[in-house]
Amino acid sequence: MARRLPPVIAIDGPSASGKGTVAQLVARDLGFHYLDSGALYRLVALAALEAGLNLDDGLRVSDIALNINTKFNGETVRIGSRDVTDAIRAESISGAASQVAALPGVRDALITRQRAFRRPPGLVADGRDMGSVVFPDATLKIFLTASPEERANRRHKQLMEKGIDASINTLLQDILDRDTRDTTRAAAPLQKSVDAVEIDTTGMTIAAVVAQVLAQCRHALRAP
Ligand code: CDP
Repeated sequence: MARRLPPVIAIDGPSASGKGTVAQLVARDLGFHYLDSGALYRLVALAALEAGLNLDDGLRVSDIALNINTKFNGETVRIGSRDVTDAIRAESISGAASQVAALPGVRDALITRQRAFRRPPGLVADGRDMGSVVFPDATLKIFLTASPEERANRRHKQLMEKGIDASINTLLQDILDRDTRDTTRAAAPLQKSVDAVEIDTTGMTIAAVVAQVLAQCRHALRAP
């Protein structure tokens, strides 16, 4: 008899749509593991920049994606023994991550690593292609959106809380640029799967979004 794989809740959406925060809270409530797939692209971007590579050098950057020694422990992310939790969140790395994410070799190299996070009792995975490419058989697929202006405001608030000063207009432009790059690339572009449930979170609190996603999860996890 075929062994049943642990369930996956796939949460996709554009940058600063709240996926990360929502996915972590949903994972905690369900007692599931959590995969922040964007962190993998950020790790590859950081390592590629530090190695002095050109970010469109598909062969060399893919080689980094294949061989990079990463460790996730709670919220802490490491390359080897070095803590890079804050370094990968820098705005410069956001743009670089979206550049390396357009390379098909990098995406292929990261698929196995992402699927390895699927362990009992289940996984909540957030990203751009969790439901479309990495876990096409996910138990539930959620697509979170919000207006670009709301997303720029959220990112601004997040940075201010960390004591980082940034202009809302620059953040909005970065978000629009990343949206364009993420939705128009040939390899696994950001798009809502036909079987995904879309939630427009503009004007909603995190708690309201989490409650709505959890209601969908309970329904999907109960279904035979
Ligand atoms: O936090 P934010 O949503 O802004 O970004 P992230 O989820 O950390 O992802 C950083 C970049 O990695 C994105 O702009 C995407 O280009 C890319 N990415 C991707 O292509 N596929 C994923 N599954 C996750 C991230």
